[in-house]
Amino acid sequence: MGTSLRAAALLAVVVLSVLVSLLVTSVRQLGTRESPSASAAPGGVEEEEEALRRALIRQLHQRRKEMTPLLSPADPNPDAALGLWDEVPIGPRDQMGCDSLVDMRAAEVLGSGYTKLVVRANLARGQAPVALKLVNEQGIDMSKCVEDFKDPGGCRELVSYKLRREMILLDRLRHPNVIELKGHCAGVQGGGGGVERGRVAVILEQGAPLQMIQLLQSPWEDRFRVCLDLVRLLHFLSRSPLGSVGLLDFQPRQFVTVAGRLKLTDLDDASSEEAACRADADCTLRFPRRNFSLACSARGACEGLNEKRNIYNAYRFFFTYLLPHQAPPGLTHLVDHIMNTTGELKADINQTLEAFEHILLLYKSGLHLDNLPPSIIRDYTAVRGMGTSGNVEYRCWPSYSQQGCVLSVHSAREAAHICNSHPQCGSFALTAQRTWTGRLLAHFRSGFDRLVPDGTAEVYVKKARAPEAPPP
Ligand SMILES: Nc1ncnc2c1ncn2[C@@H]1O[C@H](COP(=O)(O)OP(=O)(O)OP(=O)(O)O)[C@@H](O)[C@H]1O
Ligand SMILES: *[C@@H]1O[C@H](CO)[C@@H](O)[C@H](O)[C@H]1NC(C)=O
Ligand SMILES: *[C@@H]1O[C@H](CO)[C@@H](O)[C@H](O)[C@H]1NC(C)=O
Ligand SMILES: *[C@@H]1O[C@H](CO)[C@@H](O)[C@H](O)[C@H]1NC(C)=O
Repeated sequence: MGTSLRAAALLAVVVLSVLVSLLVTSVRQLGTRESPSASAAPGGVEEEEEALRRALIRQLHQRRKEMTPLLSPADPNPDAALGLWDEVPIGPRDQMGCDSLVDMRAAEVLGSGYTKLVVRANLARGQAPVALKLVNEQGIDMSKCVEDFKDPGGCRELVSYKLRREMILLDRLRHPNVIELKGHCAGVQGGGGGVERGRVAVILEQGAPLQMIQLLQSPWEDRFRVCLDLVRLLHFLSRSPLGSVGLLDFQPRQFVTVAGRLKLTDLDDASSEEAACRADADCTLRFPRRNFSLACSARGACEGLNEKRNIYNAYRFFFTYLLPHQAPPGLTHLVDHIMNTTGELKADINQTLEAFEHILLLYKSGLHLDNLPPSIIRDYTAVRGMGTSGNVEYRCWPSYSQQGCVLSVHSAREAAHICNSHPQCGSFALTAQRTWTGRLLAHFRSGFDRLVPDGTAEVYVKKARAPEAPPP
């Protein structure tokens, strides 16, 4: 208990220091604070405050009720579970609590949104840093609520329900492409009321925000990985323990990467219910550039709506930007097929996942390169166990290295084909380095001074060509 309280105090300090730094950086937030009662007429103040208080309590009840379907039927007392953070029934796995935050050092803001603020926390030595999700005191959700209800403590509690809901979803929807929930710490034991209400942190594995601009400039292999991970996630969500889950707010900023793997981190807008309907017309999926109509089922639900919305959002926010551009020539017809079936909602998530896994298989095995003539490698002299020094580099795009031309290849044969297509290329080296699919990294160069022993490398030098016949 003693250490929990210390951690709780620490948490409050972290929240404060992060807020101070946020205040300094976010100029637009300055000066927006008003004193709540300044303009109210003296006679009506108490009545008005009472009405606001009741409205806020109604909202709190509403939020609690919305969470009931997410709790598993096995929970002994779902009602109590909704009351206090400490009783939120999360899985039996090793859970981190306030105790693990006791030796927390140096927090840094990782990201923020309408609702939440995410900071990095370094824990005791030897432990990987974690991400803490907190209520964003400067966020739109808090500002709007305080404007409406003039009660920061009550508002923090109201907003913290989104965090609580997200935590339950993260626990129920554990998957390699969902950020790992490590635990939580509620700042005040017993939720004693007053301004400390809702001061809580959800402890997550730390990722890096998805940088779309950076991703657009990366090799196709990395962009394909993001799309494949997304499809694996959507396949899981379509048949999750909570039923078919739809992501209502589907944007790249809801995702992070952990060691190159895409993970969903923002789940507060996930819905596990299909929309209710009376007629087919109620089941129209509307997007800015496309509408789709679905059937209303006999039990009065738009069956399959969540899955379809997810697929189309994946198409419009991810595939269109990441997938077609620079796809390997042997795979473009398969990529085009995916673009068409997802953009037209002609394939379900099973078929879409199958199409992606098929591409991965071909790409890994090099089967898509079947039409490269084997003789192409005869243009090169191979030197095994050697690397090069005094290299003359040239740049290509999109390269794994800023300084030179480094591309992934399936084999020396594919590398030879690439070298032949670059006018500057005089040699290439294969190293032991591999990409996430297991392909080799090949270093293409104009030339080099000499060969040096290197047990892990192979150098291929272009043979001198016979002089070309002069033009007639
Ligand atoms: N585990 C994490 N590791 C690193 N960064 C993270 C992590 N989780 C979230 N972030 C970053 O913090 C940002 C805000 O988190 P989140 O999306 O959950 O908040 P939000 O208030 O719901 O945002 P929005 O207004 O976009 O819905 C994210 O966009 C992401 O960049
Ligand atoms: C989608 O439907 C809405 C409402 O019925 C309509 O106003 C809009 O023009 C449609 N959009 C497209 C792209 O068809
Ligand atoms: C899918 O293919 C059809 C037929 O070629 C074409 O008319 C349609 O525009 C394509 N749709 C998308 C989303 O690419
Ligand atoms: C999709 O695949 C799952 C198994 O992964 C299977 O249970 C389900 O029936 C399939 N759905 C359709 C529509 O084929």
